[in-house]
Amino acid sequence: MYETFSVAGRTALVTGATSGIGAMAAAALAEAGATVHIVARGAADCEETAAKLPGAVALPGDVSTLDGVEALAGHVTGPVHILVNNAGTVRENPLGSFTEADWDDVVDLNLKAPFFLTQRLLPALRAGASPHAPATVINVGSVGGLRVGPRQTYSYAASKAGLHQLTKSMARRLAGEHITVNAIAPGLFPSRMTPGDGEAVQAAVSASVPRGRIGRVGDIGGVVRFLASPAAGYITGTIIPVDGGMSL
Ligand SMILES: NC(=O)c1ccc[n+]([C@@H]2O[C@H](COP(=O)([O-])OP(=O)(O)OC[C@H]3O[C@@H](n4cnc5c(N)ncnc54)[C@H](OP(=O)(O)O)[C@@H]3O)[C@@H](O)[C@H]2O)c1
Repeated sequence: MYETFSVAGRTALVTGATSGIGAMAAAALAEAGATVHIVARGAADCEETAAKLPGAVALPGDVSTLDGVEALAGHVTGPVHILVNNAGTVRENPLGSFTEADWDDVVDLNLKAPFFLTQRLLPALRAGASPHAPATVINVGSVGGLRVGPRQTYSYAASKAGLHQLTKSMARRLAGEHITVNAIAPGLFPSRMTPGDGEAVQAAVSASVPRGRIGRVGDIGGVVRFLASPAAGYITGTIIPVDGGMSL
């Protein structure tokens, strides 16, 4: 039977799994016994990440286009129990000079990709779903979609708030098919996206976070493992801030 907090033997696909939060999620799932497909554009990075994790499989692909999503979904055989829509990007520019590319690059990856990848993987998710152990989609939103910060990241904030709402609409639609859809909304975590946020910025952010620090690997691993396990089977359509209280 199903162990409440176990993800052992389950198949997962994590986008953007070669860096930052996606790598943290992939490691947490693989170390707990899931077979994790490592998705990112960089094939060598996918191989390298997969080689470090027990049972992980490299699955390079670009999810920012429908062609890329379809190519990726075409390589998935068998049931998928856990889909982590994590790949994301950000652009920062003053309002008056924010470009169409600043908009499209972000919205295509942060909002369009989770929708169409989930849509194209529905047969695999349905095949992995059961009443006692639902298949689960975990969307990686952001504290930036919960409250407006000081940075001029217009498309990012809109895409993440949109992803949170998309999470709820897909959750409602899929609940009856034993597929749960939830989002996590991280605060600041070390990653490729945040290298400019060096020590001074991290210290300043930490000072403004009620928990007094930026996020760590285990902060992502814990919530992802929980949401991916049967223990979270009655939770759907939620947005869980993982931000040390930053969004309060
Ligand atoms: N870090 C934070 O503080 C923070 C806070 C809140 C929310 N988030 C969210 O967390 C998610 C991950 O962010 P991160 O900071 O961990 O990012 P990151 O370190 O920049 O890593 C991004 C990952 O996504 C992959 N990727 C980029 N474009 C892709 C594409 N078109 N198709 C497939 N994979 C792609 C990258 O690999 P390739 O370049 O090889 O494709 C890489 O593996 C994002 O959705 C972000 O908005 C991050």
